[in-house]
Formats: sequence, C-alpha cells, structure tokens
Amino acid sequence: MMTWEELEQTCKQCQGCPLAETRTHVVFGVGNRQADILLIGEGPGEQEDLQGVPFVGPAGKLLDRMLSLIDLDRTKVYIANIVKCRPPKNRDPLNTEQDACIGYLRVQTALLRPKIIVCLGRIAAMRLIDKDFRITRQHGQWFERAGVQMTAIYHPSAVLRDPEKGPDTFVDLKSIQEKVRQLCPDSLLPRPW
Ligand code: URA
Repeated sequence: MMTWEELEQTCKQCQGCPLAETRTHVVFGVGNRQADILLIGEGPGEQEDLQGVPFVGPAGKLLDRMLSLIDLDRTKVYIANIVKCRPPKNRDPLNTEQDACIGYLRVQTALLRPKIIVCLGRIAAMRLIDKDFRITRQHGQWFERAGVQMTAIYHPSAVLRDPEKGPDTFVDLKSIQEKVRQLCPDSLLPRPW
C-alpha cells in the first residue's frame, strides 16, 4: 500500500477530472493521521481552494465550534472531502468528478483505519452510507459498513443557512460523543504528537 506521503504527492498532481483546470490548490486533508475518527465533507469552497486546507471558511469555523462542544478538535480527528478540488461556484460535485476522486479517499481511509466516520452533509452520506440517503430523515442514525460505525450530520453550511437545524445537530453531536466514549475513548485525551 502507498504511504501517506506518496498518496498526498500523487493527489496534489492530479489531472483526473476537469476540476483540475479551475483549482488553486488540491485540498488533500488535514488532521491526525493516527485518528480513530474521520470526518468527510463534500468538497472545497473558496477559502479551502485558496489555502489548500479543508473547512477553513465560514463552515469550517462552525465545524470547529461543533467539535469543541464534544471535546474534539483538529488534533484528534482527520478531515477530508469527497472531492479534493473546488467545484466552480461551490456547486455540488458531479458524479463523474466524485468517481474520478473517490479513490484518494478510499486510500486515505485504508491508511487511517478509522473506527468512526462522520459524513458532513448529504453528498458524503449518499456516496458513503447509502445512495438513497435522506439527510433530513436519517441524520444522526448509525450504520455499520465493513466494521466501521458511520453516521451523517447536517453540513455546517446548511446549519449556517438554516439555524433551525442547530438543535437536531446538537443531539447528533452528543450521539457522536457517546459513540467516541464507547469505541475510542483515547480520542478524547490530549495528543502531544
Ligand atoms: N465544505 C466542505 O464540504 N468541505 C470543505 O472543505 C469546506 C466546506
């Protein structure tokens, strides 16, 4: 299997779909490569494209606050996206773009071997949990896939657009906190590395 470094180098040179033409940076992923918890968004927005780091724009600020509510932060989780390059005007990534890119996330997941995967929003949930996933009905539910516990919560951008999604999201975060306590309590400890 590839190493993290080989994968990141390959990914950063990718020309596998037309998003390569319009990107500023490939947004590979960020966080702890030893983490038991993997968070997956849909794709980079404007700030992410400019900086090359996931979830650094307005949605990212909210994501950081959501993590801190359950005693997590970027040193304790790994964060990636379904597509690594920004879709123009932040449109949903096309299926063809997802197909071209998903292999990178598969290798990231194989290297990380997370115990818990949290899909941020419907695009990631439809791709990774169930093609017919309904985020309004199924957010916060738990699914097991290949021995990994998976759930989806509303995308932080959706919560910013519609604050009425806040209370449900808080409940879902508490469920994630409980799952972390059960399956990987060490994830909550300070990480000096
Ligand atoms: N939205 C996403 O889905 N991913 C990011 O990295 C930023 C915003």
